[in-house]
Amino acid sequence: MNAKPTPPLPRYRAYDRDTQPEHLYPPYASTVKRAPHEPLLPLQASLSEITGPVFGFERIRANDWDLTRQGKGEPIGERIVVTGRVLDANGRPVPHSLVEIWQANSAGRYPHRRDTHNAPIDPNFFGAGRTMTDEQGRYRFVTIRPGEYPWRNHYNAWRPAHIHFSVFGASFLTRLITQMYFPGDPLLEYDPMFMSVPDPRARQRLVSTFEWEHTIPEQALGYRFDIVLRGRDETPTENPFA
Ligand SMILES: [Fe+2]
Repeated sequence: MNAKPTPPLPRYRAYDRDTQPEHLYPPYASTVKRAPHEPLLPLQASLSEITGPVFGFERIRANDWDLTRQGKGEPIGERIVVTGRVLDANGRPVPHSLVEIWQANSAGRYPHRRDTHNAPIDPNFFGAGRTMTDEQGRYRFVTIRPGEYPWRNHYNAWRPAHIHFSVFGASFLTRLITQMYFPGDPLLEYDPMFMSVPDPRARQRLVSTFEWEHTIPEQALGYRFDIVLRGRDETPTENPFA
């Protein structure tokens, strides 16, 4: 019996130069010690990276997409809707993909033992959400607008308001970890994480857009944040060596 020929593995498009953060970006202090000093070697992707894992619906709980309904009462802060699409290198929607977010509360504090910032913890806000994209690659979260917070990267360093995103796409190789920012934030140009993406147009891919379409009257402002997992329009990742 003749064995079927193995189909060729899919190839992913490369991103354009300067559209991803520089591994070594001295204003972002932790990259100085952690970034590699030798040129990176390309690794051949094998079937295991390209095929798995894919997470099922059963792991997502009913309220995971609504961060304003995970406690006994309502969290303090301005309610917002964050929605968008997950797209592949060719601009096609990525359906049934796990999207996870995590963020500070409205006072700029994470409920984590290593966050020692003296802003209040909100007992009704845990700062983490998960959902799956639908058939059109869309996701939607309801949450609280996160507060800015200080970090000790340099003197008087403040992070712009941001929401952390992890998107898996079809496999480990398309996993993308990034941060969404808000339009018009005056802290963006002082933020070494944001500024470590050299191309200013690529940086703008990290900034959400305000949208009336997703704004709910008397309830919540709407923001759109589309995520492209690969290729020329790839959303910049977080610096992997920070
Ligand atoms: Fe953060």
